[in-house]
Amino acid sequence: MKTIHLIQFGLGGVGRALVQRVLAARDDFEWRYGLRLAYVALCDSRGAAIAPDGFSHAQLQAMMAAKEAGVSLDATEWGYKRGELEDIVDIAGREDAIVIDVTATEETVPALQLALDRGYGAALANKKPLAGPMEIFRGLTSTGRLRYEATVGAGVPVIATLNEAIIPSHDSVARIEGCFSGTLGFLTTGLEEGKAFSGLVTEARALGYTEPDPRDDLGGMDVARKALILARTMGWPLELDQIPVEPLFPPEMAEGSVADFMAALPRLDDVYRKKVDAALAAGKTLRYVATLAGGEASVGLREVARESALGQLRGSDNLVAFHTAVYDATPLVLQGRGAGVHGTAAGVLADIVALAR
Ligand SMILES: NC(=O)c1ccc[n+]([C@@H]2O[C@H](COP(=O)([O-])OP(=O)(O)OC[C@H]3O[C@@H](n4cnc5c(N)ncnc54)[C@H](OP(=O)(O)O)[C@@H]3O)[C@@H](O)[C@H]2O)c1
Repeated sequence: MKTIHLIQFGLGGVGRALVQRVLAARDDFEWRYGLRLAYVALCDSRGAAIAPDGFSHAQLQAMMAAKEAGVSLDATEWGYKRGELEDIVDIAGREDAIVIDVTATEETVPALQLALDRGYGAALANKKPLAGPMEIFRGLTSTGRLRYEATVGAGVPVIATLNEAIIPSHDSVARIEGCFSGTLGFLTTGLEEGKAFSGLVTEARALGYTEPDPRDDLGGMDVARKALILARTMGWPLELDQIPVEPLFPPEMAEGSVADFMAALPRLDDVYRKKVDAALAAGKTLRYVATLAGGEASVGLREVARESALGQLRGSDNLVAFHTAVYDATPLVLQGRGAGVHGTAAGVLADIVALAR
């Protein structure tokens, strides 16, 4: 039996779902792969909990319940405050350790670098470390011990398809098109059904599909980071500011409070109704698309053929279409649930197992 020591940064929705998934998979992985996954450290924004011999099932459940109830790790019986610890990776790490980043901050970059220097693996759902300067992306990924499937399309294996099917088969990518935002998918299919833009944004916010400030989704930066990660995975040395991003609101609406923004939304209803009508008249429909071709990437609202894979996409599903030399007549298409804590945790766990094996 091989034991892999897990050090996890982040215990939000995805982080807690991942801990539960690891616990549920333990018996299966032991007989299937001869692999034992043992959590030795957990970290949140305020501190960490450490157990050099591995936390028990009951201890992990107690910490998940505490986090669920809004208690920070430093307040649990295994907890330390942030400043009380030297480097968590060095304290908790051993041979055969994997660092997991399910935070939403670039602050984890030094810990990831240290972990990789120590020879550990790393598995990320967090896009930010990979969407900063290209130099950092190269430093982190050149080891071959960092996997990041869940950063694009959550559990849909977009990165694995590139890294394990398209690139090693010496296929050449002519174009990649993808819808990588469940929120923007919900909006564009709603527009196609004739609903008003303002009503759709209000509904998406009420359903918790958007961030508390919907501009974080409608601005397109999250999709741009995913496009950047895909571009870099193919070896294109792009920076985030080289990707043109089309927000779904005008610059003047970027200022002011969320309440101001929501109140101003009906002004955009006519604009989008006209765009939808023009697209439908041409046999097309609108989708918020990341396009990668010829070493460049862009992100924005596009008219796509209604009968295309992108045009057929409904609701909050994600979709990616790889147009390559091998898949020329018909693109290689992957589609499925592209968000949600369980799909994302599933993507991270598959990366952990791939690294561990
Ligand atoms: N949710 C999805 O459907 C989805 C899909 C794909 C990818 N992702 C990505 O997965 C990541 C996690 O998402 P989430 O929804 O779980 O986010 P979340 O609920 O906001 O959780 C973030 C976690 O990171 C912790 N954290 C913040 N700064 C930290 C630091 N410096 N060191 C250690 N921990 C720190 C937070 O600590 P506290 O608990 O103390 O606040 C929290 O536990 C994000 O990068 C997100 O973009 C999410």
